[in-house]
Amino acid sequence: MTQLPSSPVLKPSPRVATHADIPALSKLWQDTGLYRPYNPPEWDVRFALSSGEATLFVWEDNSDNIVGSVMAGHDGHRGWIYYLAVSPIAQKTGLGRTLMDIGEGWLRDQGVWRMQLMVRSENVATQDFYRHLGYRALDVTVMQKDIATPPAER
Ligand SMILES: CC(C)(COP(=O)(O)OP(=O)(O)OC[C@H]1O[C@@H](n2cnc3c(N)ncnc32)[C@H](O)[C@@H]1OP(=O)(O)O)[C@@H](O)C(=O)NCCC(=O)NCCS
Repeated sequence: MTQLPSSPVLKPSPRVATHADIPALSKLWQDTGLYRPYNPPEWDVRFALSSGEATLFVWEDNSDNIVGSVMAGHDGHRGWIYYLAVSPIAQKTGLGRTLMDIGEGWLRDQGVWRMQLMVRSENVATQDFYRHLGYRALDVTVMQKDIATPPAER
């Protein structure tokens, strides 16, 4: 009979990521479908950690494996969440909700009162997750333009 993997035992609290976490974060974001070759994790992590307006939390299991992440930042107007990820082995245990609480709490402490996030149209399951957490979809078109050489091409 196939043995299903059990959920890992987690550390009691998250910590702010460091540059040393980049390989583990890359793997987590690959495992959860968030990795995009045009957004090198190394660059995204370094940029977030060097900014006073952003942070990146990681949650580890008792063996020091990163099983969750959330990046939070604000633009002086709205708060944004990026890279919310829970390792498949740790999903459906409440960690995603807890990471969102942590991101929201950090932003609240920065003076942010309204949160936004972007989720791909095809990522329907995650849209349902966010709705469950009280987020509503907006009827807006997000527009984008490169104003400098993208990190992946430097
Ligand atoms: C989205 C994700 C972070 C959720 O993490 P998770 O740890 O499995 O979620 P939780 O166990 O904390 O669930 C919290 C609540 O949401 C509910 N929920 C979880 N997934 C859901 C879904 N797909 N649809 C509706 N509700 C959902 C849970 O039942 C739980 O409800 P409760 O707290 O009222 O009992 C995780 O599935 C993931 O990493 N997905 C891949 C990466 C991704 O798409 N990230 C977002 C990019 S925008």
